[in-house]
Amino acid sequence: MMVLGLETSCDETGVALFDTEKGLLAEALHSQVDLHAVYGGVVPEIASRDHLKRLLPLIQEVLKSAGIERPDAIAYTAGPGLVGALMVGAGMANGLGKAWNCPVVPVHHMEGHLVAPMLEDEPPEYPFLALLVSGGHTMLVRTEALGDYHVLGSTLDDAVGEAFDKTAKLLGLGYPGGPALAKLAEEGDDAAYAFPRPMVNRDGFDFSFSGLKTAVMLKVREQESAGDIESARADLAASFQRAVVDTLVKRTIKAAKEMSAERIVVAGGVGANQLLRAELADSFDGTVYYPRLRFCTDNGAMIAVAGALRLGDAEQPATIRAKARWSLESLARPAYG
Ligand code: KG4
Ligand code: ZN
Repeated sequence: MMVLGLETSCDETGVALFDTEKGLLAEALHSQVDLHAVYGGVVPEIASRDHLKRLLPLIQEVLKSAGIERPDAIAYTAGPGLVGALMVGAGMANGLGKAWNCPVVPVHHMEGHLVAPMLEDEPPEYPFLALLVSGGHTMLVRTEALGDYHVLGSTLDDAVGEAFDKTAKLLGLGYPGGPALAKLAEEGDDAAYAFPRPMVNRDGFDFSFSGLKTAVMLKVREQESAGDIESARADLAASFQRAVVDTLVKRTIKAAKEMSAERIVVAGGVGANQLLRAELADSFDGTVYYPRLRFCTDNGAMIAVAGALRLGDAEQPATIRAKARWSLESLARPAYG
């Protein structure tokens, strides 16, 4: 079965073709980063319009490069995300499904991130602990099987990617700030500032990043008034990144111990962070699985593979599903398979 995957939940238009026998056949991505950069964040209406402009040409490009006319099924991100942006993918998937007379599969965006490592040569087996870290979510999920999720903890305020983006903005870096902040941090001393490790000593597995962001803001203001901000930026970035990574790693290892996990899956944009990867590898005795860097951030391949795993839930094209909010735990195992 060849499954076409469409991702339009935020600021990347992603399209990919996944074959259940042969694996990934083709993929294409258009990032809207340049469009939103001038506003310092994603503008929903601009995002929807650009998805509309890019989606069909990307689908044509993917089908052409795989040398096929039409897939056997279409998977699309049905949420969570920006509702106008989701509607573009949902409308396209259902329209093409009607035209090609093929089933369509609504996919949960975070389940897409969670199964992205299945695209690699050595995919993780179930059960595993998933650390999902993106611009919109921060979650620790005990994963027994596809669709069998227990959220152990999530963020009480900012998502970790959001904390990276907001802190990067404070430091005068562009949008999205995560990669730029990580780069600047390479030149800094991560022990220069003692930022808080939020919640690490509390029970449970929830996260909170807004206090850390405020602590950085106060230091930035202090350095600005002292006229020292230029020389302090790299140290601030490095100390912030160290505080975030320490917090994520401590919480994750604690959860892994509690569930006796042998495997950890890290997915979502912040999973591209090299310090997080290095520290987790050092602190965990089992195996840590990641998608390749390109598939950490939003892409069509993760939606295509999630759709292929959920063919049992395919619908006849007709219902356009687009949910701004959608709990991962509300999912069930696929209808069959
Ligand atoms: O998963 P993703 O593409 O989008 C959402 O579903 O939200 O994640 C994007 C987030 C952004 O906040 C971005 O700053 C962050 O991932 N990010 C990083 C890195 N690369 C991307 N954060 C820290 N270090 C990185 N290397
Ligand atoms: Zn995402």
